[in-house]
Amino acid sequence: MSHFLVRGGRRLDGQLTVQGAKNSVLPILAATLLARGQVVLLGCPRLRDVDASIRILHHLGCDARWEGDALTVDTTALDRCGISDQLMREMRSSAIFLGAILARCGQADLSYPGGCELGPRPIDLHLSGLRQLGAEIREEGGFLHCRAPALVGRELVLRMPSVGATENLMLAACGCVGTTVITNAAREPEVVDLQNFLNACGARVSGAGSSCVSVQGGQALHGCTYRVMPDRIAAATYLCAAASAGGDISLLGAEERHLTTVTAALRQAGCAITADGGGLRAVCRGPLRAIEPVQTAPYPGFPTDAQAVLMAALLRSRGATVFEENIFENRYRHVGELTRMGAKIRVSGRVAVVTGVERLHGAPVRCTDLRGGAALCVAALAAEGETRVSQICHIDRGYEDLVRDLRALGADADRVEETDNS
Ligand code: EPZ
Repeated sequence: MSHFLVRGGRRLDGQLTVQGAKNSVLPILAATLLARGQVVLLGCPRLRDVDASIRILHHLGCDARWEGDALTVDTTALDRCGISDQLMREMRSSAIFLGAILARCGQADLSYPGGCELGPRPIDLHLSGLRQLGAEIREEGGFLHCRAPALVGRELVLRMPSVGATENLMLAACGCVGTTVITNAAREPEVVDLQNFLNACGARVSGAGSSCVSVQGGQALHGCTYRVMPDRIAAATYLCAAASAGGDISLLGAEERHLTTVTAALRQAGCAITADGGGLRAVCRGPLRAIEPVQTAPYPGFPTDAQAVLMAALLRSRGATVFEENIFENRYRHVGELTRMGAKIRVSGRVAVVTGVERLHGAPVRCTDLRGGAALCVAALAAEGETRVSQICHIDRGYEDLVRDLRALGADADRVEETDNS
């Protein structure tokens, strides 16, 4: 297995262009099933989860190939409406294909997506909404057998603003007769990016970014060329890296309007963050201060995906910061690994209390999940000595090349590819 070696103690100084957003491109790749013709995705990030989506598209008989830094997809030749168990298990968010396959094919057979490191990842809201649109869904032996001879638009009310359910139902609604209105929809920027992509293909979607999304079904969708939005969680990661190590960095493409709760927290901790010609500049000097409690919440609340990296940035801050993780059941798995580096963190249920320490020290640590793994690297930048980060396959799911990006910002870090006999 490959690993990272990160040697702390060096301030960051440099400029970086933020990669395209993983959580935007994944639903957009599913949405390509609705478009007849070529879709060119500019700024598509090269991630393990994107590779998994490409394998699913190939499995369905579609064409998807890299051309430079653009991914070109043409689903015209789709000849299958089922996804194998193995492919479903490669990526937690593969459930996002269900709505699009139903809208395109009128049927879908796929296995129940597995849980993941963050805990059970139910899709009851997805299935309930699809059934209300007219899909007959039989759950049998871990498989979902879905038939939707005629999807009909209607009002859907989500019990909670689930990102994936909102996106899945937007895609299914494109295949409905009539209009679908999704109430209590997720408001994340990635939902807006999906709306903008669908409309670029000729759909009629409105309201994304608010709690009420409306889709006028029955439009014949065509191909388009679309630029994926910048990854706000990757941007948050690099801002937290600068906060952790100290330094002066510029992130091209980072949009503060998508990150206000994260930049507010970092400013409170003592970082100077300013808009800087098409991006954000962070200047972080001296020890950070502990901040007011951080409670994760659906957008526009503090993003759960930034909880781990902010925690890592505050490990040497003066005072104690309380975190409350309200979205996922098991999203403190990085705490044990951070503790190995000298962090002082106490977890009780959904609450974690981080008490700043004077020093962190390098240690061999293991990624537990995507953002938890990134947090280990953020902490390692502030640790004395070398940190060996293993199980980096988790990080590669959501970051094109974390070491490349950290090195671009001046970090002393290496990616070590281990041969099989190592
Ligand atoms: C999306 O996951 C993101 N993934 C996650 O990012 C992100 O953490 C999450 O939204 C919240 O912002 C992608 O967009 C690919 P949810 P998703 O449905 O859609 C429960 C990362 O690190 N729930 O909003 O799965 C669920 O268990 C990843 O990039 C149900 O109970 O999130 C969770 O507790 C991690 N029933 C909560 O809602 C359902 O039918 C939020 O889930 C669906 C969800």
